[in-house]
Amino acid sequence: MTVELDAPPRATPSWTRRHLLGLEDLSAAEIETILRKADDFLEVSQRSRKKVAALTGRVVLNLFFEPSTRTRTSFSLAARRLSADTVDFTVTGSSTSKGESFIDTARNLEAMGVDVMVVRHSSPGAPHLLAQHLNCSVINAGDGAHEHPTQGLLDVYTIQRSKGRVAGLTVGLIGDIAHSRVARSNIHALTKLGARVIVCGPPTLVPPTIRRLGVEIAHRFDDILPQLDVVNLLRVQFERQRKGLFPSIHEYAALFGMDSQRLRRAKDDVLILAPGPINRGVEVTPEVADGPNSAILQQVTNGLAIRMAVLYLLCGQRSAERQANENAPVRETAETP
Ligand code: NCD
Repeated sequence: MTVELDAPPRATPSWTRRHLLGLEDLSAAEIETILRKADDFLEVSQRSRKKVAALTGRVVLNLFFEPSTRTRTSFSLAARRLSADTVDFTVTGSSTSKGESFIDTARNLEAMGVDVMVVRHSSPGAPHLLAQHLNCSVINAGDGAHEHPTQGLLDVYTIQRSKGRVAGLTVGLIGDIAHSRVARSNIHALTKLGARVIVCGPPTLVPPTIRRLGVEIAHRFDDILPQLDVVNLLRVQFERQRKGLFPSIHEYAALFGMDSQRLRRAKDDVLILAPGPINRGVEVTPEVADGPNSAILQQVTNGLAIRMAVLYLLCGQRSAERQANENAPVRETAETP
C-alpha cells in the first residue's frame, strides 16, 4: 500500500471527475470510492511519518473568501501529507468582490501552475463558476448556504466508522437548516447511502421545500430524539440570516440544544456530531461535546483523510486526462482549400 501511495496517482474506473463541487451530483458508488480511499489515508495519518509522495510537484491553492479554521488547515495539511506544495490565499476586507474580478483573481493564480484550487465563497455557485473558467481542478470548500461536500463526506465517514454502516440508520440534523451548507451536503450523502434523515429546528429555520430532498421535517427535538442513531448539531448561521428568526439564543438552546438531560433520553449509543465551530451552551453543552458519545474531534481527524482522498482522486483523474491528450492522434485543423 505504501508503494502505491508514493507513486503518482492514476485514474480509477470508479472516479472520473476533475472537480468536487457538491454531493448532489455524486452517485452512492462515487461517495463509497472516496470513503474507501480515505481508509488508506487514515492509516497514513496514524503513522509517525505521516507523509506519502503521491502528489510531489503538484500545487494546491486555498482560495478562501470566508473565515475558516478547520477546513483550510485540513486541506493544507492534507496536501502536505501528499507531498504537494500548498499556497494559502486569504482574502481579507471586502475590496475583492464577485464577477470578473473573482474570475480574474483565480485565473492569475492558476497561471502560476496551480493543479487544484480549493475555494470557499459566500456566493452559492462560486466554485462552479471557477470550474467553468479554469483548467485546474476545483474543490468546493463551502459556497454560501449551498454545499460543503468534504464536510458531508467526513460526516458520513465518521458515522460509518463508528456505527459500521450508514444504511438503515436514523440521523437527525438539528438547527439552522435554512442557512446551512453542511445540512445540504449531509442530506445528499446520507440519503444516497440509505439513511433516514430527519431535519429539525424552529419553523423559521427549516424551509418546507427541503422535503424535496427526501427528508422528514420535525420542529420538536424531544419528539424525535429517542429514534435517532446520530445527532448532527448545526450551528445557527447568524452571518447568513436576517434578525428575528427566533426569540432568543437562550430559548433556542432550551428547545434545540443537546444537553445531558436530553442525552439521557436518547439511545445509549447515540453518536453526537457537530461540524464546528461549536458554540458551547447553545447547540451543545460542554458535558455532551466532550462526553463519550461525542465524535466531534474524530470528525476533524477523519476530515483530513477525506481531503487527502479527494485530492488524490482528482489529481489521478487529471493525470489520466493529460495522458489521454498526449496519446490522442493529432487532428488536422486547417482545411486545405
Ligand atoms: C461549517 C461551515 O463553514 O460551513 N464549518 C466547517 O466547515 N467546519 C459550519 C459552520 O460554520 O457552522
